[in-house]
Amino acid sequence: MSESLPVEATQREQISTTIYRSADQACIRVADAISERIAENTAAGKQTVLGLATGSTPVRLYRELIRRHRDEGLSFADVITFNLDEYYGLAGSHPESYRRFMQEQLFDFIDLKPENTHIPDGAIAREDMFASCRAYEEAIENAGGIDIQILGIGRTGHIGFNEPGSTPDSRTRLVTLDSLTRRDAARDFLGEENVPRHAITMGVGSILHARQVFLLAWGEAKADVIAQSVEGPQTEAIPASFLQRHPNCVFCIDEGAARRLTRARYPWLVGTVDWSPDMIRKAVLWLSRKTKKPLLKLLEEDYSENGMADLLTEKGSAYELNIRMFNTTQHTITGWPGGKPNADDSHRPERATPFPKRSLILSPEPLDDVYCMGGTFHRLVNQGNEVTVAYLTSGNLAVPDSEVRRVIELMLELGEHRQSTEDLKFARLVERQLREKGQFGDDTPEIRHLKGLIRRAESRSSARLLDVDSERLRFLDLPFYENGRYRRFQPGESDTAKLGELLHEIRPHQIFATGLGNDPLSVPALGFEILRAALADSRTRDWVNDCRIWLYRGPGMEWETHEIDMAVPLSPDEFENKIQGIYQHQTQRNQSPSLSKGGSSNTWNLASEINHATANAYDALGLAEYEAIEGFKRWIIQS
Ligand code: F6R
Repeated sequence: MSESLPVEATQREQISTTIYRSADQACIRVADAISERIAENTAAGKQTVLGLATGSTPVRLYRELIRRHRDEGLSFADVITFNLDEYYGLAGSHPESYRRFMQEQLFDFIDLKPENTHIPDGAIAREDMFASCRAYEEAIENAGGIDIQILGIGRTGHIGFNEPGSTPDSRTRLVTLDSLTRRDAARDFLGEENVPRHAITMGVGSILHARQVFLLAWGEAKADVIAQSVEGPQTEAIPASFLQRHPNCVFCIDEGAARRLTRARYPWLVGTVDWSPDMIRKAVLWLSRKTKKPLLKLLEEDYSENGMADLLTEKGSAYELNIRMFNTTQHTITGWPGGKPNADDSHRPERATPFPKRSLILSPEPLDDVYCMGGTFHRLVNQGNEVTVAYLTSGNLAVPDSEVRRVIELMLELGEHRQSTEDLKFARLVERQLREKGQFGDDTPEIRHLKGLIRRAESRSSARLLDVDSERLRFLDLPFYENGRYRRFQPGESDTAKLGELLHEIRPHQIFATGLGNDPLSVPALGFEILRAALADSRTRDWVNDCRIWLYRGPGMEWETHEIDMAVPLSPDEFENKIQGIYQHQTQRNQSPSLSKGGSSNTWNLASEINHATANAYDALGLAEYEAIEGFKRWIIQS
């Protein structure tokens, strides 16, 4: 947490911002503020008015409030709540309506009186909209105004559903959702085409009237928009930036969401820094980018004109630093991600022995493996390592119904042709279930099963292109995913046990994993936490001490050059092969990776942009010019 930071470090921040090591720590702070306010108001015989948000961000806060109610007697009997928004066109009973979300995530577990909860009515007739929005504002006023407002933030900079263009005096109203917002909600609605186009939201002005505001944000997908809101100008393009004018607003964010704040990104520009080796690398690589000069051409003036004079005083001349950083970066490059046998490995990212290695690739959903590290994967196999890929989840929630229909057609035709009554019975059952479920209904176990099988088949044909035998693919189908819905997953011991068993069986020398720094409720982040727990369980087993963990940063993103500890270059042919591997995941062609914003509209183009960009970044530093690079960061298991 950054509360003891010297004040100059936050000099560019226009909103008080606290960075927490984890989302849970931030939620405890906000839950404390809520508990205290309720206690004060109750003691004074007053009710407490809370403004609430939905989405993944506040889920952990709500879990903490439920825990306090259950274990510590925190009572909501004197609390009134107003939610920020609701999708227009959804009845409260719809599984994705915010009314249903609030019931399932909070209201059903605390002693809040049903009549004290308020959520805009998504089923209101168009002609009654204006009156209904006015009544919502009046109800807030009549309750005495909002004491504490909880906010999340969308990647468009929206608060509530106040999309770009919203003015600071806007009030509760019907709005049109931004296309990025709809894309972000696509998985919840099992397809972007199902996401409502409109919503009713409290306005920016309504939010600014709350007495105290906490905005929460987790994961690096929010990092850009957090930096723009906190350090940028107040602008309708980023509605959250209007919170700069609120006298009592705090952003409580995790390290992922803080990545783009000046104090995290360029700390040397806002104060003195401890010039650790990592910090030097970060600063010198930044300097090279900023001055558009390769590392070996940076001059003393470049350092001193860019806030790094003290680095020269402390750590040597520009000439020495340039060479040191050039070598360090050069040593991250290797064509042997599993280590090069019989070679001097003193400057290689991975050790030479043992060889071959048992390499385990953990893919949160099918596709992440090839999408984020398909080239490295192929090299590991071709260089003789024993590669196993474990798909943590089936990914069946991300398969559109149209894909199932296609398979059903095939099964029906085949069944009739071969007179196979069992297959025909199954195909007809699923056909009927699809019809009955309609646009928004939940998938039956049969439909989910079939969707999972479709993704398995895609993974197999992708792996075939990377020369991996089918037996080396393991489909764990972790229970948290099979029993859940996006944003509401609750992993448990059975998940850890399942992964633990696999680790114990394989005893890997290296594990490729992802998810550190993502939104904590996302599948990659949950997968990473399950890995962490499984490793903690296996700590006593000797193999853990001899296992290196390499983090790939996907889907849809890449490490920054200063963060890369292993850079695996791909030749044009290898790169093309990887792209062909990605193409095998036909059901995912229109799904955008959860972390991407703007740029490419489809998964496939984005993968190539990312790997080309990393290669270009290495080239610009003055290193060799490659077609594409996949980057990895080493993660040390902390005891
Ligand atoms: C939800 C809301 C939105 C969300 C935002 C972030 O009531 O008002 O502004 O807070 O879209 O969503 P998540 O938390 O799902 O990333």
